Amino acid sequence: MIIAGNWKMHTDLVEGASLVAEVIERTESLALDADLVLCPPFTHLTVAATQLSGSSISLGAQHMHDAPEGAYTGEVSARMLLTSGCGYVILGHSERRTYFNESNTSVNGKVRSAISAGLTPIVCVGETLEDREAGRTEEVVGEQVRAGLSDADPGTADGLVLAYEPVWAIGTGRVATPDQADQVHGHLRKVIADMFGDAFAGRIRIQYGGSVKPENAGALMARPHIDGALVGGASLDASSFEAIVRAGLGINGG
Ligand code: 13P
Repeated sequence: MIIAGNWKMHTDLVEGASLVAEVIERTESLALDADLVLCPPFTHLTVAATQLSGSSISLGAQHMHDAPEGAYTGEVSARMLLTSGCGYVILGHSERRTYFNESNTSVNGKVRSAISAGLTPIVCVGETLEDREAGRTEEVVGEQVRAGLSDADPGTADGLVLAYEPVWAIGTGRVATPDQADQVHGHLRKVIADMFGDAFAGRIRIQYGGSVKPENAGALMARPHIDGALVGGASLDASSFEAIVRAGLGINGG
């Protein structure tokens, strides 16, 4: 089970530091049973890394460039993230694909750079509403995985995380049903088995993302192919994030 909070472009540094502190307080003991990852904005990483050192909660970034260094104003490299305390990096998020023109090809370059630097990529895939209504969901997400992970060598299944985030469910309050999500996750596992073998596919963690809330998290993560959640809006509230982790672990109350 791996549950990550994608803060997107929210919180200033002071707000971010207090959110990290509150998440540690509420979820530290739960982090023994699930991998928990916080992905704040770049500006917060080193402060958050200091706060999280000594806890079992990991740090991730939301994006990176694929080059090791160079004249790329405004960008950051895998090594910069690693040396700032990150263990994970979200790649190919639909907001990056939509607003910053990321393609399966550019995602692939980043995935390979992240892995070779020692970061675990959380690779996001997902179909638009138009794709879903045209019956193209499996085709679209399958291609995103095949192209995005082409020639990647994550070593073990722990070195790679997939996140299925249907575009129509992100930030909309409209969540995929557990059946809908599990079906796509099962398909993704088959694609991964074709690429990396059955043992790897059996172990890789596939998160669901898109309007995950305390009320729907338990039913989603109870499904056989859903191994965690990538949480946007609800991760900005420590008590909601805690409730989602508890729901994922099947623990009530708090
Ligand atoms: P929401 O949980 O706000 O829908 O965002 C999901 C997401 O994009 C996580 O990466």
